[in-house]
Amino acid sequence: MEKKFYISTSIPYVNAPGHIGHALEFVQADVLARFHRNRGEDVFFLTGTDEHGAKIVKAASQQNLPPKLFVDGIVEKFQELAQVLNISNDDFLRTTDQKRHWPAVEAVWKQLQEKGDLYEKEYEGLYCVGCEAFITSKDLADGKCKIHGTEPEHIKERNWFFRLSKYESQIREALEKDVLRIVPETRKREMLSFIADGLQDVSFSRPRKDLAWGIPVPGDDTQTVYVWADALVNYISALGYPQGENFKKYWPADIHVVGKDILRFHATIWPGILFALGLPLPHAIFVHGFINVGGKKMSKSLGNVVDPLRLVEQYGADALRYFLLREIPSAEDGDFTEGKFQERYNADLAAGLGNLAARVLKMAQNAGIEAVQHAVESADIKGLIEKTQKEVEEALSGFRFNAALESIWEVIHSCDRLIEQERPWEESAGQKGTITALLSALSALGEILSPFLPETSERLAEQLKAGSGESLFPRKSA
Ligand code: MSP
Repeated sequence: MEKKFYISTSIPYVNAPGHIGHALEFVQADVLARFHRNRGEDVFFLTGTDEHGAKIVKAASQQNLPPKLFVDGIVEKFQELAQVLNISNDDFLRTTDQKRHWPAVEAVWKQLQEKGDLYEKEYEGLYCVGCEAFITSKDLADGKCKIHGTEPEHIKERNWFFRLSKYESQIREALEKDVLRIVPETRKREMLSFIADGLQDVSFSRPRKDLAWGIPVPGDDTQTVYVWADALVNYISALGYPQGENFKKYWPADIHVVGKDILRFHATIWPGILFALGLPLPHAIFVHGFINVGGKKMSKSLGNVVDPLRLVEQYGADALRYFLLREIPSAEDGDFTEGKFQERYNADLAAGLGNLAARVLKMAQNAGIEAVQHAVESADIKGLIEKTQKEVEEALSGFRFNAALESIWEVIHSCDRLIEQERPWEESAGQKGTITALLSALSALGEILSPFLPETSERLAEQLKAGSGESLFPRKSA
């Protein structure tokens, strides 16, 4: 039987359309999904949207729309984003889906309750709507949330609590022993030190009178399920938990891809829930950093939110995929400016890959070489391709997308050097051999690139078959 591979992105809040940070997460997960599919694995790639909670209610009311109408509009935009970026997700789960998602959340709730892991408590504390989380003074600077720069709400209410503290040592052990592997290592250490301070029980519901937009707590319609207790369950509700065939087939997840700000939920609450349910933990969490814009945090209030749809329209999906994967250090923060984007585009794509393909095809045409041989004929090229394939595999096993692309670009540089050395545009004894070798290199490049730049990979294959084609990446000027 084929090996299964289950990968997910986080599910974005639909308070606003997706930005380049969301695009980054989509693209990183997509590369892994495509890479594993190319290896013949049975891949299930899930994404979706997180549609409940106070943040959504607030955004909907600012537009004078009822929440459902509001989220429907934004969800469409996320789906469009996934589509234009050629994200190969197998499923898209919406947490407002009452047929697929709600029954799973209700089932989980009941199981936690039967286990004695839920209890009622009067809670007094701070809540940050931006984080959708109960926070403490440690999370504040000048009385404001360190992440969102907004004042938290003071809350005093009766909630259901989840006994996360009960699972503290099990969770710590799972992280320490890499049963649940957290990549990069620095993030794993960060989580272990967070856990070392002690895991507190977490509020798992909000009073319905204050927040009606969400899933009612089973058996207590005065309360709404806390948005994270609702959202995390998407990873199993989409598989049809508890009885679904896909659940049996694909759980546990191989990789959850998430941003650094939500690792805590995935590395503590989620394993806590899974331990309580008696389910195996996901194998790995890959944590990416944040994209800033011109050195500043992207935010609506600063008006510097970069719209990925516009970039795709202007430069093409693969240009944006390439920039996100290559320029943004895979597991750290990175920076976007239109200047940097254009620079990468012109240097690596237009003058690099695009120019190489055009030159080689032209030389082949002039030398009367028609179709490309599929087998790599030159020993040098064969060695180089095999080495690159290994490097790509190794880079991806450590989620180093940028390193993988660097290796692939070495092939492009080698081909460029070969052309300068051998001057195959001039007639010579070795001319045809060199051009054929270059054609095979291009063909191999197309294949290696397919998880990263799927559209380019296809176009390149077509051009190699046809012997010519339009420029893959026309130069762009500022
Ligand atoms: N709804 C929750 C996730 C629930 S998962 C069960 C959420 N949504 S979010 O829209 O705020 O964020 C979605 C993802 O986008 C997160 O992984 C987050 O880290 C990522 N990013 C949000 N802003 C980002 C950047 N500026 N840069 C890169 N990724 C960023 O959290």
